[in-house]
Amino acid sequence: MRYLVTGGAGFIGSHLADHLLARGDEVICLDNFNDYYAPARKRRNIAAALTKPGYTLVEGDFRDQEQMQQLFATHRPQRIAHLGAMAGPRPSVQRPLLYEEVNVRGTVNLLDLARQHGCEGFVLASTSSVYGQAPTPWTEDLATDRPLSPYAATKKAAEVLAYTFHYLYQMPTRVVRFFTVYGPRGRPDMTPYVFVDAMMQRKPITLFNGGEGVYRDWTYVDDIVAGVIAALDSDISFDIFNLGNSSPVQLRDFISLLEQVTDLEAIIDSKPLPAADPPGSGGSGRSLVPARIYAWAGCTCAI
Ligand SMILES: NC(=O)c1ccc[n+]([C@@H]2O[C@H](COP(=O)([O-])OP(=O)(O)OC[C@H]3O[C@@H](n4cnc5c(N)ncnc54)[C@H](O)[C@@H]3O)[C@@H](O)[C@H]2O)c1
Repeated sequence: MRYLVTGGAGFIGSHLADHLLARGDEVICLDNFNDYYAPARKRRNIAAALTKPGYTLVEGDFRDQEQMQQLFATHRPQRIAHLGAMAGPRPSVQRPLLYEEVNVRGTVNLLDLARQHGCEGFVLASTSSVYGQAPTPWTEDLATDRPLSPYAATKKAAEVLAYTFHYLYQMPTRVVRFFTVYGPRGRPDMTPYVFVDAMMQRKPITLFNGGEGVYRDWTYVDDIVAGVIAALDSDISFDIFNLGNSSPVQLRDFISLLEQVTDLEAIIDSKPLPAADPPGSGGSGRSLVPARIYAWAGCTCAI
């Protein structure tokens, strides 16, 4: 099977590509190596994959219609894992237009090309952020029409458009909502890296609400990849799945674990929770979520 993995040089995309290659599939990795964080990190993420047969790197931007038309015509992907995006709720508050362009328009461009080229399946990476302030546990049937950030709103818009394309053209489509992912190659703007860096440099850690009552449902990257692959392989025509751990950890407890692991004391600077940040992410997944995701409960110190 030939898969297009967008955002394939990023944190999760590069792991997905490695897993697909390992099982003998072909991977077309599409990435524009943007500078949301150092592009050199993304180059390192794919250094090993570049040496493998069956792996093709296309440096390009999925907003670019002409370039994408050429990609689909040349490489003829059969299934698409659309992981490429501008990620992160807080930076999206500063750059809402960019988030809309990449996460909404870029997704529509790919959906339209996928149906033009008769692709067999489309998997869209979404986020637990779409649940906003909904009461936990967050189940897929909850209303998600009150997102708290442009990032979450653009992901919700992409989900809705993915459904529309499925409805109009019967393109098999699955949406997977990731819950705070951690693991090797993790994004440097994410909590584990930001906190440990600060601790090592003896700098204060900004903790909203002092870390009390703020929860994150950490999910190991291999489990997310297993969920994405299950979604790619599935014959479900359309559905939405949470990919989470179902065992949210209070941020203050997470800091205590970091203190144990690093043997360093965290200097806490307590601030009020920003409006764009959901206070909690507590998921409850369904059948597509691999059972072993649940086995990771309690392993949040494995950063
Ligand atoms: N990491 C998490 O905890 C988390 C949680 C929820 C959802 N997600 C979603 O998972 C997906 C992957 O996230 P990640 O953490 O690996 O982020 P990442 O930033 O490491 O990966 C995204 C990749 O997409 C690429 N990209 C961005 N815009 C592009 C464009 N226009 N054309 C081509 N490539 C482009 C970037 O260069 C980057 O390599 C995203 O859709 C994100 O919204 C991630």
